[in-house]
Amino acid sequence: MKKTVPYIVGLKDKRVISMITAYDYPTSKAATVSEMDIILVGDSLAQVVLGHDDTLSITVEEMLHHVKAVSNAKPDSLVVADMPYMSYHISIEETIRNASRFIKEGKADAVKIEGGSKREKVVRALINAEIPVMGHLGLTPQSKNIMGGYKIQGKTLDLAKELFEDALLLQDLGCFSIVLEGVPTVVAQSISENLGIPTIGIGAGKYTDGQVLVIHDLVGMKSKEYIDAKFVKRFDNQFDSTVKALTQFKSEIEARDFPSEEHSYILSNNAEESLKEWKKEIKKILS
Ligand code: KIV
Repeated sequence: MKKTVPYIVGLKDKRVISMITAYDYPTSKAATVSEMDIILVGDSLAQVVLGHDDTLSITVEEMLHHVKAVSNAKPDSLVVADMPYMSYHISIEETIRNASRFIKEGKADAVKIEGGSKREKVVRALINAEIPVMGHLGLTPQSKNIMGGYKIQGKTLDLAKELFEDALLLQDLGCFSIVLEGVPTVVAQSISENLGIPTIGIGAGKYTDGQVLVIHDLVGMKSKEYIDAKFVKRFDNQFDSTVKALTQFKSEIEARDFPSEEHSYILSNNAEESLKEWKKEIKKILS
C-alpha cells in the first residue's frame, strides 16, 4: 500500500515512523521490502555518493536524476525530495518551479526544505501550490557557513525557545512533519510532545516521533578513515564486504577460476560442430 502524507501524519502517537535516505533504484526497492515509511532523497547524496565535502554544491538537476531513480522502483514509502541549497532561496517563483520538477518529473510525493521563520514565504507558497512540505530544523547542514560548522543547536533556553517557535510556525504554515537534527534530547522531546505533526529525529534522541539515518552510515558503506557523527550507528559493514568481494573477484579471474562453466554459455555438441565453420571464416578474414 502506497504511504501518503495523511497516513504519515496519522502515525503520530501510534507508532515510531521510519525514514531512510535512498538515492537509487535498488535501495528504494529495499526500503519498500523493509517497510520504511518514508524515503528521503537527501542532499546528503552530495557527500555520500558524489564525494563532495558538504551538501552546498549539489544542483536541482543532480538531485532530480536520483529522485527519478528512487521513484522508478515505485516504492510504497512516501518519497520526499530534498530541495538543494539555493533552489528555494532566490525567489518564490524559482522555488515553485524547482519544487514542481521534483513532483512532476521526479514523481516525488513531497519536498523538504531547511529553516524556520526565514522560510515562511516559500513554505506558504509551496503549500498553496499543493506541494507537501517537510520542514528541517536544528543543525541544518546547508547553513554550515553561518553556523560555523556542524554544531548542535538549541543548547540554551533562548535557542531552544527559538527552535520551538520555528517548529510551531512550520506547523501553522501546514508542514506535514519536521526533521529535528542535532538537537539535545530534552529539547527534541518537548518539541515533539507539543506539536500535532510528527517530528523525525537524527541526532535528537529517542523521543521524536520518527527516526532517520543516512543509508550509507547505517549500512557502513564508508571507508574506515571516515569519522561517524556521534548519532550514527553502523548496522552493517558493507564497505568491508564490498572490498572482500572485489578482492575475491580479482583473485578468481587471475586464476581463471571465474567464469566457470556454470557462468558460461556452453553449446550442445552439434552446435559446437557447426561453429567449426565459423572458426574457418575467422581464419579467412585474418589471412
Ligand atoms: O540530506 C539528508 O540526508 C538529510 C537527513 C540527514 C535528514 O537531510
